[in-house]
Formats: sequence, structure tokens, C-alpha cells
Amino acid sequence: MSSFYLTTPIYYVNGPPHLGHMYTTIVGDTLVRYRRMAGDATYFLTGTDEHGQNIERAAHKEGIEPIELADRIVAEYVRLRGRLGFSYDDFIRTTEERHRWGVEEIIRRIEAAGDLYTAVHEGWYCSPCETFYTEKELGPGKTCPVHGTPVEWKSEENVFFRLSKYQQPLLDLYRQHPDFVRPATRLNEVRSFVESGLRDLSVSRASVEWGIPFPGRPGQTVYVWLDALINYVSALGFGGPSTALYERFWERGDTRLHLVGKDILRHHAVYWPAFLLSAGLPLPTRVWAHGWWHRDGRKMSKSQGNVVRPDDLVDRFGADAVRYFLLREMVFGQDASFSDEAFIDRYNSDLANDLGNTVSRVVTLARKAFDGRTPPERCEDNLLIAVARQTAADYRAAMEELAFSRALEALWRLLAEANQYLVVREPWKLIKTEGATEQLSRVLWNGLEAVRIVATGLLPFMPRVAAEVLAAVGSAEPPASLDALAWGGTPTNAELPEPKPLFPRIDKEAYLAEGKASEKETTMETAAPETSRISIDQFFQAELKVATVLAAEPVPKSNKLLKLSVDVGEGTPRTLVAGIALAYRPEELVGKQVVVVANLQPAKLMGVESNGMVLAASLDGKPVLLHPAAPVPNGTRVK
Ligand code: MSP
Repeated sequence: MSSFYLTTPIYYVNGPPHLGHMYTTIVGDTLVRYRRMAGDATYFLTGTDEHGQNIERAAHKEGIEPIELADRIVAEYVRLRGRLGFSYDDFIRTTEERHRWGVEEIIRRIEAAGDLYTAVHEGWYCSPCETFYTEKELGPGKTCPVHGTPVEWKSEENVFFRLSKYQQPLLDLYRQHPDFVRPATRLNEVRSFVESGLRDLSVSRASVEWGIPFPGRPGQTVYVWLDALINYVSALGFGGPSTALYERFWERGDTRLHLVGKDILRHHAVYWPAFLLSAGLPLPTRVWAHGWWHRDGRKMSKSQGNVVRPDDLVDRFGADAVRYFLLREMVFGQDASFSDEAFIDRYNSDLANDLGNTVSRVVTLARKAFDGRTPPERCEDNLLIAVARQTAADYRAAMEELAFSRALEALWRLLAEANQYLVVREPWKLIKTEGATEQLSRVLWNGLEAVRIVATGLLPFMPRVAAEVLAAVGSAEPPASLDALAWGGTPTNAELPEPKPLFPRIDKEAYLAEGKASEKETTMETAAPETSRISIDQFFQAELKVATVLAAEPVPKSNKLLKLSVDVGEGTPRTLVAGIALAYRPEELVGKQVVVVANLQPAKLMGVESNGMVLAASLDGKPVLLHPAAPVPNGTRVK
């Protein structure tokens, strides 16, 4: 039995997780579920990266200790585990003692190899990157090439790692193991970076307190990237009292695979192997880099206010639909853009229509013809068998390559063929004209069997829904092995429960209109970037006024919108539509004073004309209304 050790990056705890972070864990979860079905002994690790200046600053900005911030964000990650159906074996936090043991042991070994020395470190430092840049790497006006924000000059005594010594060993590694970095194009990037010359790397900080004390160097803490990378072995017990997992999955392991976003490839394909070579530990067998999710074609970032939070989507569509979309839409390795529109289109066409309708059609017919059971006759000789065989082969080949979208396409080809087969055989007519014949039995059994194979292939992608589909087509227990992709598994005369709707169709227009309403709320919440401050005149273009809510009611067919009638001191009340229904009940708003933007152009939301906008702070997408601290006449200007 092969061993398969899989890791995600460990996530920074300076903000709540967004879709981009969840993507890597979803990919990992899908892959590891597949490997389990392929018969590997697997171990899947994720966790959080909690030290360093960024976290320290983010916590102090809130007036709390870094560990309090870390605990809060970790709770979010742990909560999402259940929501998104993650099956990781361990969650490592770099603030745990077991992690410190690993870090100390690796540093002892690197020191023993003679690869550490102390020197003055000077340069332009970007704190969000925790990285020094040379003058020529900077953007215009001395800004960070990644973040575009101003860098600071830093000069301090640090511990350095002799990275330059590993230039040739790394180039040898890439030559001997061209698969070390995937996709192949990324290996070229890494190789040219190393070929252009490696400078020694500063691996400690004198000015950052929030970190692991550097062994043997008082006053220095371990540089956050050296600290973080070691999680991949400290989580397995390296440096601690019990090293069985380390020996099994790292030292003697067959596959040691790191999944990473393209932005952190250099750390994993250059620094990490160099640290390991120095410490005399085995290297990962592969580092696989994926692309970035954008939002509506723009970079997703907290400061732009356009990040997608997984919770909103999961609430509405279920975790498995989100998992499906992300894996189907992004060609693994390339960038992709998230949009509400693309999400709904895929949901409606692939899930509601292709999958949901096929299941319900074939199950309804079989139940009707065979008294609530699967057909009594199986069929081992028909056109679908060849397609199913090809599908299983294509699917497996794609999964070995981490080509998730291709694997799903293969399953959908079988679904399309099965539909075509049913259209040609017309079982709905056969029932009426000939009744429950042997022929009808075979046709419907084939339909169920094709769906069963598709659902088996879907188990790693959509664990809950695929199990439901399997139960719906008469296979009560989801199979544990990929052998179930072979033709013939649908039982005869087995109970077929009444089909439940799997993916109710979404009204795209209504959904998008709602999204616009809540986006309006969030655009007000977004802090203006430092570089684009507005003048006081620009601010006064917005007429902010106090108003009293006279009446409030839900907008029909919308779960986010409320229709408000408000008195803005104009004699006649105004109607506003606000995306606050998930946070406020209509009755608790009546009589309250709120702040509205009074001179906004009218907009129609779900058929209701809105004449203004209510202001609310947005806390992780949840609106919190603003009220004056004491009652004031309606229409009072807010400035
Ligand atoms: N803490 C480091 C990783 C240390 S690993 C030893 C870090 N953390 S991070 O929270 O900033 O990012 C974690 C992962 O999320 C990275 O792989 C990054 O590429 C990924 N993503 C963050 N935003 C993303 C998108 N918008 N799209 C896809 N992945 C993105 O880096």
C-alpha cells in the first residue's frame, strides 16, 4: 500500500478565511478522498501560520494580544471544516509546543551543518510580505512589488542561512526530478530564479517579538517563513517524543505533496528544499502550484472589499455545490474569475439540470414501473458500457494529473450519453405501451447504472451529495474503492426511495438583483485606499441624513431584502430597499432612527423601487445598522 502525505499551506490568521483560502483546502480534500479510494494510506494536513509582524500588528490594531486574534480566526477555520466537509487528519497551529520542537530541531541541524551566521541586514522591507526587497525590485515611489504599499528601510543584526551554498544542489534537484514542481511551466520560473543567483537568506528578526525564540541567539525570533515551512514535519512529530507518523509519511513515505498557491511557490520549491538539504531530511516529492481566484476579473482583496466569503455561498447552495463549482471552473494551475453569474449558470446547467434532472427522471420511472424498487433485470450488453469504461479511464487519468475539471468533464460525458440513451429508448413510452417488460427493466437499469458510476466518481468532489445520489439510485452504501467505477454495481430489486430534489433551480435574475443590493451595502464599508483620498467637497456630494423607520416588511421571494418606509423629514415618506433581512427582523426596526444616503439615484431591486440607501457597518458580510447616539429631527444632515 502506497503512502500519500498531502498538505495545504498554513493560513495566516490576520483575517477570516475567504474563498481563495478555502480553494486549496477543497482541492486537497478532493484529492485525498480520491487517493483513499485508490487504496493509498493517506495523511492530510492543514493549519495556521500564526507568528510574525503582520499578525502582531493586526492584533495590536484591535487592542488585543496576537494569540487572541489567532484563536478567533482558528475557530473560523475549524467551523468551516464541518461546513465544507473537510476530512483532514490534523490541523497544526504554529503556536503549539509540538511545532516549536520541530523548529528547534531543524535549526539545531542547520546550525550543525555550518549554514548559519550573524550579519547586519539592511534593506527595503514590506511587512505584509515579511520580505526584504532590493532597490531595483521596488515599484514606483518605493513601494512593494506585490502589495503596491510603501516599504520601510530596516537595518538590524540577523541570523543568515547560507542559501547561496544550495544553488547548485537545487539546480541538480530540478534536473534529476523534473516533476518536483508542477505544472511544468512553473518549474521554469523557479529554475530561472535560482539560476539568476541565490543570496543568503535572513532567517531571524530582532524587531519582532511574536515568534519562536531563535535557539542560541538571544534577542532574535525565527523568521516567520522558516518557522511556517517546518509545520509540514513538526505536525508529524519531528523533533518531538513520538515520531512514528514522521517516519511513516515523511522519512519512508512514497508521496509527499505540497499544494500551494503560485504566490508562495518560491518558498516551497527553493527555500524549503534548501533548509531540508541542510538539515539532512528527505525533500518533498512534489510541489504543485495552483492559480488565483479573481472576483469579476479583478484581484480579490480585503482592501478592495470584493472578497467572496464561503459562508454566503454555502448557506444558499450547500457546500458541495461550492466545491463542484471551484473544481469545475478553474483549470488547475491557471487563474480563474469568480462571478455570481458564472456560479448560477453552472449550478443550474450542470447540477440542477444535467445531474439533478437525470437522477429524478430515471428514479421516478423505475419506481413507477417496478413498484418502488430497482429493475429486476440487469444489462451487460449495451452501448453505454463502452462509454462508461472510457469515462472511468479518462477520469482516473485526469485525477492522477490533478486535472480536476477534466475529470468532471469525463463524468459529465457519461451523463450526457445516458440521457441521450434514454431519449432514444423512450422508457416513458414503453411503460405506457408495454408495461414493466424485461426490455424496460434493462433500459432503466442502464440509466441507474450510468448515474451510479457518475456518482461514484463524484464522491471525492461532492462527498455528501454524491452519497445521496448513490442512495437515490439504489446503492445504499457509498463504495470505498475506485473498483466501483466498473460497470455492473447497481443491485436488482433493491429499494428505491422517493427522489428528493437535489439541486433546486435558482432564479438567476432574482439572485443577481439581491446580490446587487448587498453589494451596495458593502461598497460603503470599504475603506478608501490611502492613495485615493477624497476631498471634503466630494464627501459632501453624498447627502447623509437621519431618518426614522415607519414600516418594514420582507421583499417577496428574497431572503436578504427588506422594504422600508422611512421619514427623511420631507413631508412624505420614502421607500428604500435594504439588504439587511438576514440580520434584522422587520418589527425590530420600526421606530428606530437610521442614517440614509438621501441623494442616491433610484434603483429597482426585485421589482421594488428604492430611493436611497441605509448605512450599516459590515462585519464579515453581516450588516450592523448605524443609529444617532441621541434622537434628532428627521432630515438632520450627517457630516
Ligand atoms: N502563511 C503563508 C503560507 C505558509 S505555508 C508554509 C500564506 N498564507 S495565506 O493565508 O496568505 O495564503 C494561503 C494560501 O491561500 C496560499 O496558497 C495562497 O496562494 C492562497 N490564496 C490566497 N488568496 C487566494 C486567491 N484569491 N485565490 C487562490 N488562492 C489564494 O501565504
